[in-house]
Amino acid sequence: MKNKIENILNDLDQQGWSVQKQFFPTELLRELSQTLLLFRQQGILNQAGVGRKEGFHIEQSIRSDEISWFDEENLNEAQKKYLSITKELQDEVNQRFYLGLFELEVHFALYSPNAFYKRHLDQHKNQDTRVLTLITYLNENWKDDDGGELQIYLKNGQTVSVSPRSGTVVCFFSAEFEHEVLPAKRERASLTGWFRKRR
Ligand code: OGA
Ligand code: MN
Repeated sequence: MKNKIENILNDLDQQGWSVQKQFFPTELLRELSQTLLLFRQQGILNQAGVGRKEGFHIEQSIRSDEISWFDEENLNEAQKKYLSITKELQDEVNQRFYLGLFELEVHFALYSPNAFYKRHLDQHKNQDTRVLTLITYLNENWKDDDGGELQIYLKNGQTVSVSPRSGTVVCFFSAEFEHEVLPAKRERASLTGWFRKRR
């Protein structure tokens, strides 16, 4: 795990973003994927919105995924394990970049076939506590032809395209990179979170 974290830190240092394959153990990814399917059965996935507090609204022309936030009072073993590994990453990031990150707020996201999330930035207006975005994909046997790529728009005009394969992790500075989720032919599952600093 230490080496994999080191790879992310070096990428963040050099380019502000990182894509790692096989970051989390396969078994954990399976358990997380099962947790998400269970949440769907239990009806605790909600149509995702945009904006925060009074500004919050459902905007299906911008995003059409369904989400479920981690509930601190109610975490299963897989979720706890996920948070313990991401805490290691958080600690290393803090040591290296002095960012004062103190928590990961994270939700499951399920995109139905053809669902999308248009080009956007992860920081809410007038609120810069989201510092670092961390996305983990949970889709086994994903084929290139299935679509659903995450497109990351770099400042030099280039685009990085990431297939949402199980085990792949994407990490980038939230304020710096616009990105977009393209429609897929299959259902597309992920965990998306933000390491936050205090105001
Ligand atoms: C988000 C997001 C990307 C993805 O939830 O803000 O950009 O690939 N997700 O799921
Ligand atoms: Mn985003």
